[in-house]
Amino acid sequence: MKVVEQSSKLKEIISNIKEQGKTIGFVPTMGALHDGHLSLVEEAIRQNEYTVVSVFVNPTQFNNSEDLNNYPRTLQQDIKMLEKAGCNLIFAPSVDEIYTTHDLQKPFDFDFKGLDRVMEGKFRPNHFNGVVQIVSRLFELVEPDRAYFGEKDFQQLAIIRLMTETYKYPIEIVGCPIVREKSGLAMSSRNMLLSEADRASASHIYAVLSESVQFVPTTPIEYLKESLVAAIEQKEGLKVEYFDIVDGNTLKNIDDWSQSEYIVGCITVFCGKIRLIDNICYKR
Ligand code: PAJ
Repeated sequence: MKVVEQSSKLKEIISNIKEQGKTIGFVPTMGALHDGHLSLVEEAIRQNEYTVVSVFVNPTQFNNSEDLNNYPRTLQQDIKMLEKAGCNLIFAPSVDEIYTTHDLQKPFDFDFKGLDRVMEGKFRPNHFNGVVQIVSRLFELVEPDRAYFGEKDFQQLAIIRLMTETYKYPIEIVGCPIVREKSGLAMSSRNMLLSEADRASASHIYAVLSESVQFVPTTPIEYLKESLVAAIEQKEGLKVEYFDIVDGNTLKNIDDWSQSEYIVGCITVFCGKIRLIDNICYKR
């Protein structure tokens, strides 16, 4: 397995792989890898002849410098995990390798068609702008045939699909199911920042989400939303930032179960200071 820090070196290797006619699978990450990330890597390895994983904590998608500074960084451990999984190349650039000072200062120009104004976008201004900026840059460097994203970041996946369509990248976007801890808590690099007690509380999020499925379609959406938020907040230390029930493609709010054939509930909960996201499919 190769570990590459420079874009020019990466380009050289990629052009060589392409000359050999091999298909390339790509998994972008911010590192601090766990089994959720590895499920994406394993899927990429199954479907492609060459697998590239990027590990880059992208500063332009953080709207809070404390969050950026606290983000876990475990590159040596990540390298070991990826080697064991059978990944072919890790791209782990420095910030200077990716961005000029100008890139870091000006917002990236992209028409989100409103997808950035709801849910995460509403609470993390400019977050998706930074995501599109980095993923488009990585796509242009890696030139993959397929790229893998988790359904855990449901809105991110929808935005990456829109970006791929907008820029006409010849890349298949593969959405992968959420991997959970035994307790049901969705795996996240941020879980490392939770105490044992926090983890126990946080597992309540998925317990309540999965229970709520039985109330579809008899319970009115507004009522289900209110009761679900109340049930989660019953647990000390949990505070819901938003819980939206949306069309899985357009991310528009739904107010009746008959309004769409694909309905997903997306939630963000603060467990103490740690922000956790999760979602549940109600109809498909
Ligand atoms: P990161 O949070 O490291 O996640 C990398 C990929 O792993 C994302 O596609 C995410 O949805 C997926 N993932 C995380 N936890 C998962 C879980 N429990 N089950 C399944 N998939 C999971 O998302 C990002 O990084 C960044 O925004 C990035 C796309 C790399 C751009 O910087």
